[in-house]
Amino acid sequence: MASVLSQTSHTFDEYLILPGLTKREHRSDTISLDTQLAREKNGRHINLKIPFASAVMQAVTGVKMAQTLGQEGGIGFIYQSQQIDDQARMVKEVKTRWVLVGAGINTRDYRERVWKLFDAGVDALCIDASDGYSEWQADAIQYIQDLWTDVPVVAGNIVDARAFRFLVDAGADAVKVGIWWGQICTTRLQKAIGRGQASALLDVAEARDAYFQQSGIYIPLASDGGATEDYHNTLALAMGADWLMHGRLFAACDESPAQKLKVDGQDMKEYWGEWSARARAQGNTLRYDGALFEEGVDSLIPATGPVGPVLQRIMAKIRATMVSSGVSNFREFHEHAVLTLISQASFQEGGTSKVRVRN
Ligand code: IMP
Repeated sequence: MASVLSQTSHTFDEYLILPGLTKREHRSDTISLDTQLAREKNGRHINLKIPFASAVMQAVTGVKMAQTLGQEGGIGFIYQSQQIDDQARMVKEVKTRWVLVGAGINTRDYRERVWKLFDAGVDALCIDASDGYSEWQADAIQYIQDLWTDVPVVAGNIVDARAFRFLVDAGADAVKVGIWWGQICTTRLQKAIGRGQASALLDVAEARDAYFQQSGIYIPLASDGGATEDYHNTLALAMGADWLMHGRLFAACDESPAQKLKVDGQDMKEYWGEWSARARAQGNTLRYDGALFEEGVDSLIPATGPVGPVLQRIMAKIRATMVSSGVSNFREFHEHAVLTLISQASFQEGGTSKVRVRN
């Protein structure tokens, strides 16, 4: 008989963080947002100055986005739904600024793709799959590990401890969490697969910490997708994420490859899923072969201007919460954050529906 988890699947909005003791040394200018992208790989540590990565998506990460995020101290992962030579050319172009750059790969043509990406100077690879708990993915990880490269492999996406252990045993250097629904993603509607991002992160983070205790090896976790409010970033970091991957947030910015359009007087950007009909039509890759249905849609989202101010705003909020939590860095945040589930009534009470907002 199928098993049913006793724990309900929870989303970010169902949690709050309790304040911790703020000491005098906890100030927004002393908080470190430095983070580890992946575990140390053949002597190389890749650290990010800010915990942000742009998604492996046509509408999100081209050359301009990757260069901008790299300059801000994060990393962009160039989309892989294009011909290998075109992707390698983009990676090379980003490297002319001498910033970090990542690239997506798939489980079909990686034997050819990774070599060209290495030649182009890629710093990190990310296996781009909606469900990473698969032997195909383990094969791809194993192939890359056998090359003795110092380029780390981010594996995923997963939502539970079983899958974490499977990918880490296969050799993953970092793991991406999130089989989400909403925004451009229709995976749940098509396949009934997924898990609330909060439950997924908490479960995988517990497995990561247990693995660290047992092996002394710390595997960084990324929270991928589904963040619709700024505070979702903070919650993900409190729940154990080391960095955050975003699609919509960056697609809405000037630096994304998506076109800007005026709709009813408002500036909008196009944003389409990597498993949408549009991505398939534009994409030039084996990854879509044989797919009979889509798991994503094509949409319009409000344009938000350049990446810099958007990140500054979110980071100011992350720092403020970390000050309130009495922590100085993400490792302390993971260890000391105290979260509470809230009731539906308490969630409704948290809005401004009882007043008429004037500004
Ligand atoms: P967002 O930040 O909520 O917009 O989510 C971005 C993430 O959604 C990406 O990093 C992918 O993991 C995932 N994704 C991208 N395209 C699709 C799709 O077409 N269907 C389902 N998930 C997708």
